[in-house]
Amino acid sequence: MSHADDHAGTGEGTRRDFLYYATAGAGAVATGAAVWPLVNQMNPSADVQALASIMVDVSAVEVGTQLTVKYLGKPVFIRRRTAEEIDAARATELEQLPDRGSENANKPDASAADENRTLDEAGEWLVMVGVCTHLGCVPIGDGAGEFGGWFCPCHGSHYDTSGRIRKGPAPRNLPVPVAVFEDETTIKLG
Ligand code: FES
Repeated sequence: MSHADDHAGTGEGTRRDFLYYATAGAGAVATGAAVWPLVNQMNPSADVQALASIMVDVSAVEVGTQLTVKYLGKPVFIRRRTAEEIDAARATELEQLPDRGSENANKPDASAADENRTLDEAGEWLVMVGVCTHLGCVPIGDGAGEFGGWFCPCHGSHYDTSGRIRKGPAPRNLPVPVAVFEDETTIKLG
């Protein structure tokens, strides 16, 4: 066993926070369904993951781009939305939505109104688990699909600019994980 293995092993089963930084520069270009920057090699074991939070530096995320990080084994989309995307999301009536729940771990009982899904009040930042609620593919972003948000090519699910399902077999909106702005340029997941 290498020294590194020894070191990694000491963390298992102990109660501690596992923090690392994911940098925006590496991920802002991710666009494809299966392409996201892996920080897999830094992931702790499963028992430590249950306690884990990660800090994501979003200082390099430009308006109209998405940073994708891996968190608890899944891609998490962090999109800095354009004014047009925000307007489209906020102009949508609840009646138009198949899933009218926020699906937001930070606001579990709220409606799917866009205001209940974004991280900030102005609605510039949208954080979501990037896993299709149909059968788990990773949707394509950057304005994909008929509603200008995300599109899952596996069976044709269209999500809007708020990550809400609008058309196709997926039953629920893309879930918003526990997240908060730790400071102006850092989002804490978990
Ligand atoms: S897994 Fe996304 S539409 Fe089926």
